[in-house]
Amino acid sequence: MRTSPMPCPPPYTENTDTVALPAELAAMPQWSEFSAAAQSASIQTNALRVINVAGIALDISGQVTSPRLVNATAQLLQARHLDQARSTLLQGGISNLTEDRPAWHTALRAPAPAEDIAFERERMNAFVRLADSERRWRNIIHIGIGGSDWGVRLSVNAFGYAGAWRQVHFVANIDGHAMQGCLAGLDPHDTLVVLASKSFTTAETLQNGQRALEWLLASGVKNPHSQIVAITAKPQLAKQWGIPDSNIFRLWDWVGGRFSLWSAVNLTTALAISVDIVAGMQAGAAAMDSHFNTAPIAENAPVQMAVSGVINRSLLGYGSLNIAPYDFRLANLVPYIQQLEMESLGKSVNLAGDPVGVPTGPAVWGMPGTDAQHTFFQWLHQGSDGAPVDFIVCQDPDHTWTNHHQSLLANCLAQREALLKGKSYDSALHENLQAGMALPQAQWLAKHRMHAGGRPSNLLVLSRLSPYTLGALLALYEHKVFVQALIWGINPFDQWGVEYGKVLATDILQAISGQKVPNQAHDASTAHWIELFSSSQQRRSSGACSDND
Ligand code: F6P
Repeated sequence: MRTSPMPCPPPYTENTDTVALPAELAAMPQWSEFSAAAQSASIQTNALRVINVAGIALDISGQVTSPRLVNATAQLLQARHLDQARSTLLQGGISNLTEDRPAWHTALRAPAPAEDIAFERERMNAFVRLADSERRWRNIIHIGIGGSDWGVRLSVNAFGYAGAWRQVHFVANIDGHAMQGCLAGLDPHDTLVVLASKSFTTAETLQNGQRALEWLLASGVKNPHSQIVAITAKPQLAKQWGIPDSNIFRLWDWVGGRFSLWSAVNLTTALAISVDIVAGMQAGAAAMDSHFNTAPIAENAPVQMAVSGVINRSLLGYGSLNIAPYDFRLANLVPYIQQLEMESLGKSVNLAGDPVGVPTGPAVWGMPGTDAQHTFFQWLHQGSDGAPVDFIVCQDPDHTWTNHHQSLLANCLAQREALLKGKSYDSALHENLQAGMALPQAQWLAKHRMHAGGRPSNLLVLSRLSPYTLGALLALYEHKVFVQALIWGINPFDQWGVEYGKVLATDILQAISGQKVPNQAHDASTAHWIELFSSSQQRRSSGACSDND
């Protein structure tokens, strides 16, 4: 049974004269023209369109284009004040309107950063130098979630895939099995616990941190707090936790969690591999920032990716975006981009609080190729919906098995070409007849073997997987998301939906753990399960629970 929609609140008018709110998209003549141009554009399979920037070649030949669309894009971006919005972002103005603060992650990777940023960078480097010189911390437990986790996992796996003398263990999930499994077998006397949390209030991180602290204490570690490091924008909370000042690294309020990798949040990568990795990533990202700031629209990689992202989602009706890194080391790029895109673009109202009027942020999903080919590529090729795909591959590998890399490259190009060109009924029929089938069988099978084709894709070729190219790649997606949000008129820097779930979880937790009577406002199903879980948990804590419960 469907429930009726909530009544709509009145429009917000109080501060609209002080904040420049974007016009309603559907009412803009520039949108109408853009929309008409995109609907009549097509993928030009005989034209090569590549943008080279910061060691990355972005091939956008697999997206729809036409001279009319190029023109309409320029008009739309002008009407959306791209230049102004970009300057506000890059100069640390208030880009995050609903939280009234900058979104100034680019400042963290600036080649010549402000004094306080440079100071924290040097503190982090000095911390790593000291640990290295003392050969301390054979194990690092990195505890953080979302933006305090995915980017770090990504960089540790991208550059530490061949192993490192320090073992890194990640714990994000509140599920106790994650922490329990992590601690098993570690030497507590040679383990450093890194707590990454911008807010230092995230339940998962604090509870897992608490378990780690108890483990250190129970193992007889003399000064357990000295084995814990915090990276946070709330140093006073970390201090209250007992962590010494020397182990607290600063984050700034103006850095969004999913944009915080450029800070000391990436300390774990510096410890696991080298501070040079962090510096290299910052340099690559800074090169992309400069490109984004200065390249003309037609040669601007983030802008071009954003424009096709909007066309594919809002005008061609694709509900999702597939990320296909043809590089085993980049497996964590998928959840990283998933959070970046979905937490930033999973909004349906514009800055004025009105419905955007067109579908916004797609669902993002994926898996490294070639595994993905044997898992879901069938759906991409012949399923009824399809999805645009971002193929990402390195021109040169860092291993010496040339034949493996040649196969990887060939698979990547082949899948992309199949999606692009498809296979016609006639060519499938011809092949079947050539294979010796009788005509009726050849005709019947040709219907099953034909591919629609015309499915959009990007190809991103990294010269090599270096810290520089990875940093540039991540910044490319960050800016792409920013431009998509600008076109849609939404704020990519808040996440109110996630916040609401956190509040509900706190309330339900109190009911399940018996701290308070369940709130009467729960729906019937939630109320049922709260009651059941609450009594089973109480039986469990009173020891009255059997394994069969
Ligand atoms: O998922 C919501 C969120 O606020 C993310 O934006 C953030 O990356 C994550 O939680 C972790 O937050 P924190 O770093 O404050 O622990």
